[in-house]
Amino acid sequence: MFPEQPAAYLNGEFLPLHQACVPVLDRGFIFGDGVYEVIPVYAGRPFRLAHHLQRLANSLAAVRIDNPHTDGEWEGLIAELVRRNGEGDQSVYLQVTRGIAPRDHRFPADSRPTVFLMSNPFKPVPEAELRDGVAAVTLNDFRWELCHIKSISLLPNILLRQQAVEHGAAEAILLRNGKVTEGAASNVFIVSDDVIVTPPKGDCLLPGITRDLVVELAMEHGLPCEERDIPENELRRAGEIWLTSSTREILPVTRLDDIPVGDGRPGPVWRDMLGHYHRFVDTLRRPA
Ligand code: PDD
Repeated sequence: MFPEQPAAYLNGEFLPLHQACVPVLDRGFIFGDGVYEVIPVYAGRPFRLAHHLQRLANSLAAVRIDNPHTDGEWEGLIAELVRRNGEGDQSVYLQVTRGIAPRDHRFPADSRPTVFLMSNPFKPVPEAELRDGVAAVTLNDFRWELCHIKSISLLPNILLRQQAVEHGAAEAILLRNGKVTEGAASNVFIVSDDVIVTPPKGDCLLPGITRDLVVELAMEHGLPCEERDIPENELRRAGEIWLTSSTREILPVTRLDDIPVGDGRPGPVWRDMLGHYHRFVDTLRRPA
């Protein structure tokens, strides 16, 4: 059972989440100067932890914050947090900022990174969303040019998601120079002439852990899959559109800009892939 007063971790100690406080001069608060991860936990076991820790290391290196922990130490902290919060299905949020220093844009000479972890109960995707799919809208990707960094500076993503929500949609699918990049907080796949397609990795999108697994599962099960650019007109005539993320797994989009996608129902390739995905997760729940 997830506790009513969940535990968190801040700079060396576990404490109740509501008692965790960061000084206002933390550069995360002042500048959004930090990076984060969201790691799903199924039956108490972190999902693709090595992949998440590698992406964290890449984000830290890209913003030039020294990684404050070894992978073994991260693993220990996450395991202890998950244990304190009752095992089960959770979503671990992990954040590292450049630390506390007088406000000055340049890097401080001697700050210590702030390390914060919390976890939330993992909410399954609502039945109705799996049955009917969700709506998405296309928006101009006006974010910066380093979208492969999992930065806590999420103001553009927040504005884009909110715009989608105000259009009655669950997600914004972003277009840059006439091509799909990703969602405001998800990666994008389409099914085009029976081929699963997702944009290639690069600095225009976050290399999603769920995205990579979907590509792996497609290869393993012999489903044609390509990592290549998706022009806007191909998105608009796709038979299926999916969104992937750690928190929403693989979600079918059945309306794009108020127009049905395919026949307006979640598609057969999505259904197949979600089955493969859930069987993969089940191997975590019931290790051999
Ligand atoms: N976001 N792209 C963006 C911009 C994201 O924020 C996310 C996830 C993804 C999917 O990555 P992954 O499969 O590793 O979760 C792609 C998380 C869930 C969040 O910010 O809450």
